[in-house]
Amino acid sequence: MSAQTQSARKNVRDIAAAKGATPLVCLTAYTAPMAALLDDTCDILLVGDSVGMVIHGLPTTVGVTLDMMILHGQAVMRTSRQAFVVVDMPFGSYEASLEQAFVNASRVLKETGCQAVKIEAGEYAAATVRHLVDRGIPVMAHVGLRPQATNVDGGFKAKGRTEAERSRVISEAVAADAAGCFAMVIEGVAEDLAAQITAQVSCPTVGIGASATCDGQILVTDDLLGMFDWTPRFVRRYADLRNSIATAVNGYASDVRSRAFPGPKEIYTLKKAP
Ligand code: KIV
Repeated sequence: MSAQTQSARKNVRDIAAAKGATPLVCLTAYTAPMAALLDDTCDILLVGDSVGMVIHGLPTTVGVTLDMMILHGQAVMRTSRQAFVVVDMPFGSYEASLEQAFVNASRVLKETGCQAVKIEAGEYAAATVRHLVDRGIPVMAHVGLRPQATNVDGGFKAKGRTEAERSRVISEAVAADAAGCFAMVIEGVAEDLAAQITAQVSCPTVGIGASATCDGQILVTDDLLGMFDWTPRFVRRYADLRNSIATAVNGYASDVRSRAFPGPKEIYTLKKAP
């Protein structure tokens, strides 16, 4: 990566400047071709650990490894030019100790060239955010519904529906903000809770299933493109690629079976002698 490429990218100051301004446009990207398509339009490309479910067919994000995140992070960095790229720290790569978090997060930055990491920030994780930021690693926090906690939560459940849970999510957000995260994802909370957190923290908030009161929005790209037959209620589908792919593949299969493909324009012929 050249110095020029790096300086053309958005940086943490650009992202911080979005607090209370035009909402940040953020999407997930896991592959080089998709990153190339999304780069011009997005402020942030997140190499989310949702890659485990979307690309690798895992049932949850718990099985995702650091090596998987690094491989996908490298692919996204290769073809993006201007977006700020954040790579998720997967389950088990940062919780054991501050040292473990730094060793693994620095690996992600060094081996991918991305600008920042994201961690799912329960209140205990504020110390991790502080430790990483103090040592030169920008951190995006992730509060509210934390998919890596699916086994203790008993599924992917919206958060903040009881008073106790509400104050826990607020404490997580306030602690991560005070610890120096440059932005935070708020997932799966009611509008008034997202609004309260957004008003209370100094960093921009990026909502997913958390209403338009946030300072930006993020979705899993494959969800908005209509790649799955089921999506959560907070997703708006902007395309129906699942059906487009089925139509294309059925057309191909039928042409192959009837020998309509390949046709005269799709074959090589002997060059005529001059
Ligand atoms: O892993 C992911 O894709 C995420 C987003 C959904 C915020 O964390």
